[in-house]
Amino acid sequence: MKHIYIGLMSGTSLDSIDAVAVDICADHCTLLAADNYTLPMELRQQILQLSQPGNHEIDRMGQLDIELGKLFAKCCNQLIEEQSIDRAHIRAIGSHGQTIRHRPGKQQPGFTLQIGDPNTVAEHTGLTTVADFRRRDMAAGGQGAPLVPAFHQDLFRTPAHNRMLINIGGMSNITVLPARANITTTGYDTGPGNVLMDSWIKLQQGQTYDHNGQWASSGTVNQSLLDQLLSLPWLELPPPRSTGREQFNLEWLQHQLVQLSSSVMPADVQATLLEYTARTISDAIQQHDQWSQYEFYLCGGGAHNQALKQRLNTLLAPAKVETTSALGLDPDWIEAMAFAWLAWRTMEGLSGNLSTVTGASGERILGAIWPA
Ligand SMILES: Nc1ncnc2c1ncn2[C@@H]1O[C@H](COP(=O)(O)OP(=O)(O)OP(=O)(O)O)[C@@H](O)[C@H]1O
Ligand SMILES: [Mg+2]
Repeated sequence: MKHIYIGLMSGTSLDSIDAVAVDICADHCTLLAADNYTLPMELRQQILQLSQPGNHEIDRMGQLDIELGKLFAKCCNQLIEEQSIDRAHIRAIGSHGQTIRHRPGKQQPGFTLQIGDPNTVAEHTGLTTVADFRRRDMAAGGQGAPLVPAFHQDLFRTPAHNRMLINIGGMSNITVLPARANITTTGYDTGPGNVLMDSWIKLQQGQTYDHNGQWASSGTVNQSLLDQLLSLPWLELPPPRSTGREQFNLEWLQHQLVQLSSSVMPADVQATLLEYTARTISDAIQQHDQWSQYEFYLCGGGAHNQALKQRLNTLLAPAKVETTSALGLDPDWIEAMAFAWLAWRTMEGLSGNLSTVTGASGERILGAIWPA
């Protein structure tokens, strides 16, 4: 009998919903099937509009919550049918939901909000659904993010090598996995991933992303803009830290451009944004003791951006930056697998967060269970 968990991930890039089926037990975690489903443009637009304050938010959120719940259920059902997965073997769905706000912080009560109604997912799939993973960590004083480091630790930590995982989604986060058993796993957001590059090429050329960083490679890094972006106080915050579209978004970028004394060509802006992503990642890494003794593995959509990967290889030389394919796992499915794994942890009554990563006062069983 297999113990199949479905993982559902829809990240800040709003590129697609990723769905995976994973066979999980205490001693293994095997990817069985995976697919992604494009987010309809209209829903994408509605999510973007809800990601910042506006009129009639509660009504719009309520409706989108249900619509996304239905879409998540449809993705699960499609994956199950396409791959002829026996429903009797499926224990639960782990659904991350779509983040529309992430405001961690101690000054005001911090909060984070993911929508995509789990009641609707359970009802339309007939499957037990685990969701709302982040808020228990926040209730315990944590950032609610990043949550993937616990999964990275389970899958990739080894006494044989020091490893760092670099996830480049909408935002970027790193997980530090020391070989020595007496050093704890750490991890945190480093800043933007693809979000600024995606927003800029969308505005200038109508494309959803800069394939392999080709447009960025046609431009030249503007040093004044780069220095200004690197002076952002958020980058000085010590871990634990996490971020989202609240910090890194098109309006913020446009505000930065207006503040410069001269205008910058669009291709040069893109080149600078790629450099900014690479530098914020490598600067964060180089703050770690013995960083040069580590192996680096990329995951998330940014792992496919050849220009970005090359730049990281240069900045972190002589260490080599590869993708998680070198460890036997496709970089596209790791986030969705993490939420299948977190659902397994919750169903088993096991904690899902690492307090050394999120800053929570302890480890907690995350999320809630909506029965089939
Ligand atoms: N060949 C490629 N070249 C450049 N960028 C790519 C390529 N393939 C994917 N991407 C980038 O990856 C992004 C999607 O990454 P991913 O799905 O990991 O992010 P996400 O959905 O925001 O997830 P999360 O934020 O939760 O990590 C796309 O928006 C695009 O910018
Ligand atoms: Mg995605």
